[in-house]
Amino acid sequence: MKPTTRPDRPFFGSGPTAKRPGWSLSGLEGAMLGRSHRDAVAKARINEVIERSRRVLGIPADYRLGILPGSDTGAFEAAMWSMLGARGVDLLAWESFGEGWVTDATKQLKLSDVRTLSAGYGELPDLTEVDFGRDVVFTWNGTTSGVRVPNGDWIAADRQGLTFCDATSAAFAMDLPWSKLDVTTWSWQKVLGGEAQHGMLALSPRAVERLESYKPAWPLPKLFRLTKGGKLIEGIFKGETINTPSMLAVEDALDGLRWAEEVGGLKGLIARSEANLAAISSWAADTAWVDFLAALPATRSCTSICLKIADPRVASLAESDQQKVVKELAGLLAKEQVAYDIAGYRDAPPGLRIWGGATVDVSDTKALLPWLDWAFGEVAARLDAEAA
Ligand SMILES: Cc1ncc(COP(=O)(O)O)c(C=O)c1O
Repeated sequence: MKPTTRPDRPFFGSGPTAKRPGWSLSGLEGAMLGRSHRDAVAKARINEVIERSRRVLGIPADYRLGILPGSDTGAFEAAMWSMLGARGVDLLAWESFGEGWVTDATKQLKLSDVRTLSAGYGELPDLTEVDFGRDVVFTWNGTTSGVRVPNGDWIAADRQGLTFCDATSAAFAMDLPWSKLDVTTWSWQKVLGGEAQHGMLALSPRAVERLESYKPAWPLPKLFRLTKGGKLIEGIFKGETINTPSMLAVEDALDGLRWAEEVGGLKGLIARSEANLAAISSWAADTAWVDFLAALPATRSCTSICLKIADPRVASLAESDQQKVVKELAGLLAKEQVAYDIAGYRDAPPGLRIWGGATVDVSDTKALLPWLDWAFGEVAARLDAEAA
């Protein structure tokens, strides 16, 4: 039976993600459009993104927080290019984005002293193997497998190396232990549903020390340059962006941050996201045709919630045929306007990925679940008919 109730907002894609509830373009009317981003008022507006982000996330006062071009990728690569190579590095990867950073370190930067600790989709590498005498590069939440590190307990407090944490799909939905993180990045279009292309970079005092004491052997494009004459460019961390930002995106980021404060700050945001995971978990526990891609419950992401199709009629198919089933499912749901963009990531095993970040209302997630069963029923009926 086709369900009758549709989610109010069928936006379950993993980035750009759903706007906050109640968002409207008219909320951006005060944006400083047509004005220089170097003007004092505009700069204050940009800096407000930094300060509100710092407040909501509880970033320590002695950490620098800046806005970088090129979204999370820009921020993370600027950090990698600026700071790696000073000592050996452990690279952790368990899905596509972590693997991307491995490629950067090994094939582009060609670092000589590298250890790669990897795991397949659904798993985490053995975190007890990490050597914190070295730099450590990892992703807090693997967006394409829906596997997150359960906490920061595995990170040494007295480490000599720096930790580089890609927190794109974790920031604002998961607790990040700032004292364990030296370099942390995220982008605007994830948990707060902002507009894309701007990345955030948080640096611990030890990361700043590295920047001011180490000069990489390779050239740095202007977009990656965080120092000048061996000193940190402090302006980047006060709203003086390296190049021109979108003042419309800035206004939208502020809109998201103000909403974050209204729903109870970080605690409220985490609760909203965890409620989405809880709704899907309890449905999945009673639903034979799906399973979480993440093997261990403690590693299951509350933002990028990845499911595989466990039904033997699908699971026994060749991977390319499973992908066709996923496309069909996602297509049916999009056509019904109940869920957009929920096919798993192109490099991930076939499955569905449902965004459960803070901007998604749990009532919408709950309304989606019967539609998932309905769509699977449609696909299963086709498979049965073909087999008969
Ligand atoms: C973990 C992770 N890292 C990096 C990226 C790339 O982010 P951006 O497109 O903001 O550069 C994403 C995007 O989904 C991501 O999920």
